[in-house]
Amino acid sequence: MSESTAKLELNGKSTEFKVRQGSVGPDVIDISALYKDTGTFTYDPGFTSTASCESQITYIDGDAGVLLHRGYPIDQLAENGDFLETCYLLLYGELPTKAQKDDFDERVTRHTMVHEQLSRFFTGFRRDAHPMAVMCGVVGALSAFYHDSTDISDPHHRMVASIRLIAKMPTIAAMAYKYHIGQPFMYPKNELSFAANFLHMCFAVPCEDYKVNPVLARAMERIFILHADHEQNASTSTVRLAGSSGANPFACIAAGIACLWGPAHGGANEAALNMLAEIGSVDRIPEYIAKAKDKNDPFRLMGFGHRVYKNYDPRAKIMQKTTHEVLGELGIKDDPLLDVAMELEKIALTDEYFIEKKLYPNIDFYSGITLKALGFPTTMFTVLFALARTVGWVAQWKEMIEDPSQKIGRPRQLYTGYAERDYVPMAKR
Ligand code: CMC
Repeated sequence: MSESTAKLELNGKSTEFKVRQGSVGPDVIDISALYKDTGTFTYDPGFTSTASCESQITYIDGDAGVLLHRGYPIDQLAENGDFLETCYLLLYGELPTKAQKDDFDERVTRHTMVHEQLSRFFTGFRRDAHPMAVMCGVVGALSAFYHDSTDISDPHHRMVASIRLIAKMPTIAAMAYKYHIGQPFMYPKNELSFAANFLHMCFAVPCEDYKVNPVLARAMERIFILHADHEQNASTSTVRLAGSSGANPFACIAAGIACLWGPAHGGANEAALNMLAEIGSVDRIPEYIAKAKDKNDPFRLMGFGHRVYKNYDPRAKIMQKTTHEVLGELGIKDDPLLDVAMELEKIALTDEYFIEKKLYPNIDFYSGITLKALGFPTTMFTVLFALARTVGWVAQWKEMIEDPSQKIGRPRQLYTGYAERDYVPMAKR
């Protein structure tokens, strides 16, 4: 196959650039030599047309509403496997055999406890601190604890750091929750599955037995799978950028958590539920639809629209099913938030504004309702997202470190400030 090129005509000079083909998805013009060859930069705020790296982990076709991890569709992973299977797949590239899965489960399970000293960090925070603020601080603090897994040039260290992060995030997330509500921390229970253990650490108390409901544990497992990775989104790109300098892996994940917190990213499920509560009843929906369409009103329908999906978010479909399973199991029949959500979805999907702009419900539209039914306060929603996304972050971080072409990330800019000018003494200003 002949190699295709893209030609750039600039200031009377023609320069050719290699066009690279992925296994699926759009071709990519390799402009890495653009500055050297032409003395110009590209301008792409928000990176809407820029591939920042080469990756083999996750593929999204936003127009078709497709999400694949290592080639496997997200719905097949969520229907058939558990979260640790998806973790193995993301980290190692293949689905595990039974022996590999058992070994991986054992390795993760053996790392679920945190250094006892780490629990002291929590008391430095106000009880009413947002748990994402606590997560940024405590996960960052892990970088001061596990010195035997921070030599990023050592593949064994990289894997141990990855497993530690996957294993300890539920423990830290549950501690953030318990601290918030003033209950004692619950230690992990190794006989439980990943999701069941997390529910136990969040909802058990030392004074009585807690039996994990298997339907709810399965729903939790599925929520984790649906959030595990999403290629080069803002928080993952943040982790890659932070890691590109050779920074401590635990600190890089803390950077990812900070980025995820924003309402345009991981904070959207919290924002979506708050919005449903604010709307309150079905008869007020038209008012909010009108606000969302009004160019002079900054209000947006939270849980709608996506930078990449210009079709139904494939995760939202599974999430919608999971929502009904959880509400059914808990016997919640008349949830006013769900009524508002269903009606809002119906109206938005038939409204010209949303159709024309291809604004479909995203995963966050349903995950908030489900997490609320499971018993989590809204402030914990993004924490759960961070917990699940940690595997994606570490898989992408490892891939970056192992890429021989890896270099420190350093975007350039279109400078529109003053050109050089002389300093003016204070008396003359
Ligand atoms: N409600 C009303 N209008 C919207 C919405 C919305 N939720 N989202 C986009 N639009 C409009 C927007 O005003 C713009 O209109 P115009 O072309 O007239 O200027 C057009 O649709 C395109 O929007 P955009 O801002 O250029 O799209 P983007 O790719 O930059 O933004 C987004 C994507 C997710 C930030 C945005 O859709 C949004 O703010 N949605 C609400 C927040 C949300 O649910 N975020 C969760 C994302 S999924 C979880 C994750 O992966 O992190």
